[in-house]
Formats: sequence, C-alpha cells, structure tokens
Amino acid sequence: RFPVRILGIDTSCDDTGVGIVELAPDGSARVLANRVWSQTVHAQYGGVMPELASREHVERIDRVTGDALAEAGLEVNDLEAVAATSGPGLVGALLVGLMYGKGLAQALGVPFYAAHHLEGHIFAAASEADLKAPYLALVVSGGHTHLFDVPREGEYVLVGATRDDAAGEAFDKIARLAGLGYPGGPAISEAALRGAPDAVPFKEPLQGQKGFDFSFSGLKTAALLAHKAGAKPEDLAAGFERAAVRFLVKTTLRAAQACGRETVVVSGGVAANRALREAFAASGVRAVFPGKDLNTDNGAMIALAGAAAIRAGREPSALSEGAVAYAP
Ligand code: KG4
Ligand code: ZN
Repeated sequence: RFPVRILGIDTSCDDTGVGIVELAPDGSARVLANRVWSQTVHAQYGGVMPELASREHVERIDRVTGDALAEAGLEVNDLEAVAATSGPGLVGALLVGLMYGKGLAQALGVPFYAAHHLEGHIFAAASEADLKAPYLALVVSGGHTHLFDVPREGEYVLVGATRDDAAGEAFDKIARLAGLGYPGGPAISEAALRGAPDAVPFKEPLQGQKGFDFSFSGLKTAALLAHKAGAKPEDLAAGFERAAVRFLVKTTLRAAQACGRETVVVSGGVAANRALREAFAASGVRAVFPGKDLNTDNGAMIALAGAAAIRAGREPSALSEGAVAYAP
C-alpha cells in the first residue's frame, strides 16, 4: 500500500516539531511538511525550564500538527503511520508528543512507532542523499556530541562521545559570555566572520588521544579567561569556532578511517554551521548533511525514522512504551 504517509513528532526539548514524509515503493522517503514551533519563554531564564517546556508543548502540539497537515495538503485520515520521539530528552516534554502520537495512531487505527531522537537526527542527513549503511555518523547538537559507527541499517556502535559539554552547548555558553545572544551557534558563526581567529589562543582538546572522544570544557575556559582579559567578542567567536570545527573534523576523520568508512553523516543543530560544512567539504571524505531546516530539532526527522522502521519491517511499538530521559 504505497506511498505510506507518516507523521512524525518531536517534543524532546523546547521545539514542538511535527513533520510528514512519504515513503515510496523504492524505499526513498520525501519530506512533505515540516513545522516547528520554537518556544521563546525560556530566553528570560537563560536556559530551558522543563516544566514550562511541557506546558508549551501541550498548548501548541495540536495546532502544529494541523499546520503540518495543511502544508502537506493532507487530511488526518490520509496518514498511514505515526512516529514520536520517546527519548532521550526532557521526560515531561517527551511525554506530550509521545502521548499525542499514540492517541492519534489509535484514533486512526494506524501503527505507532516510538523513535530515538539521535536516530532521527542521523536519518535527517542520510535520507537527504538516499544513503544506506555502512557509514560513520557524527551527531553534534545542543545535547549531544556522539560518534556512531553504523555498519548495517539500524545498528549503532558508539565509538566516541563528549566527556563534558556538547558542542552546541559550548557555542551557546561562549556566545552568552561574549554577549552575542541566543541561540549561540548562529551568533558565533556570524560574529566569527568579522573576527581574527589567531587573536585568542585555543589549544586543541584531548591532543594525542587514541580514542575518539570530545571535550569542550577547555575551549570554554580559554574563552572565559580571554574574555576577562578583554578579548573582542568577534575574535573569541572566530578563534573558538575554528578550534571547535578542527577538533570535530579531525576526530571524525580518524574514527572513519579506524572503522573503514568512506562516508560520514553529520547531523544535529551544529551541522548547520557553515565553517563545519566547509571543513568537511575540504577534507576529502564524503560528508552528508541534512537538508534545509532539518539540522535542528524537528518532526520530519522522526517521520523519517518511522519510515526506516517500516522499511526494515520492524514491529510497531506497544502503546505502553514510555518516555526515557537517557536512552542508550
Ligand atoms: O539539534 P538541536 O536543535 O537540539 C538538540 O537536540 O540539542 O541543536 C541545537 C544546538 C544549539 O546549541 C545551537 O546553538 C546549535 O545547535 N546550532 C549551531 C548552529 N545552529 C544551531 N551551532 C553552530 N553553528 C550553527 N550555525
Ligand atoms: Zn536534537
């Protein structure tokens, strides 16, 4: 019964994301709609307030779903499956999308698939190039900096992860320190264009490590010290961005070589970074990135994870499936 239209929901943090994809008989998936409502209430607190996030999701989810259906030109009855993120994320926030998705699937009498947030990020990039495993995946966002070897579809071997902050978190914290605003990623990137990358010294983290871990606390401390010594925000931005990008690319390339992978999938919010994309393009490895609006948290990537589950013939999830803060 092709094409299969799948609705995907992500409410793992502070974005209410609902997307719709269409799975074709040849296994390719096309994004029909992708609507994200980004919560702004948290800005005044300088970080995400979990309880407020849950409440905002409750208020918004129905409207965002309606908007996604309208964007796709579909009626709710046209849906053949529903997928929602079950973790990792803020439990209260996750529960809103998970329960809404389960309820919708049950009301429509269609299968429901619980999805892993990081798998969604990976599929956002892989489906852009109709890429199938094997490949290496770098998930680099505000909550994660993880390297996975993907030897077969659906199999993920963690080969490295951050020991402290996630990369996006470091962008956000340094931007706040330098008074560049929120979210920090785009702000740092923009300011870096006007700065001198050599003005502030940033040492390469974990130099000489045999493994493939990440660490951003040293870069953060270097930024703090330079800021106190009067460094210009744009110079801090340029120096930090260059150091972070070099570190991410170098570690990923080493891991790709060690795992024997020729293709690298780069996804998550920080994958939107221009300097990171340029560095991978110049690195010689085949690097695949998500399409427009699919880098940061969204529902379409979860619909893509649902499409992959259907393609793989996976059993639908039980409606008793719960939300998990830390999914393995
Ligand atoms: O994937 P995402 O929306 O949420 C998580 O799952 O964490 O990622 C958000 C993160 C934020 O830390 C944001 O600053 C970062 O992605 N980000 C960027 C850029 N755009 C967003 N970092 C660097 N450069 C960018 N252009
Ligand atoms: Zn994410």
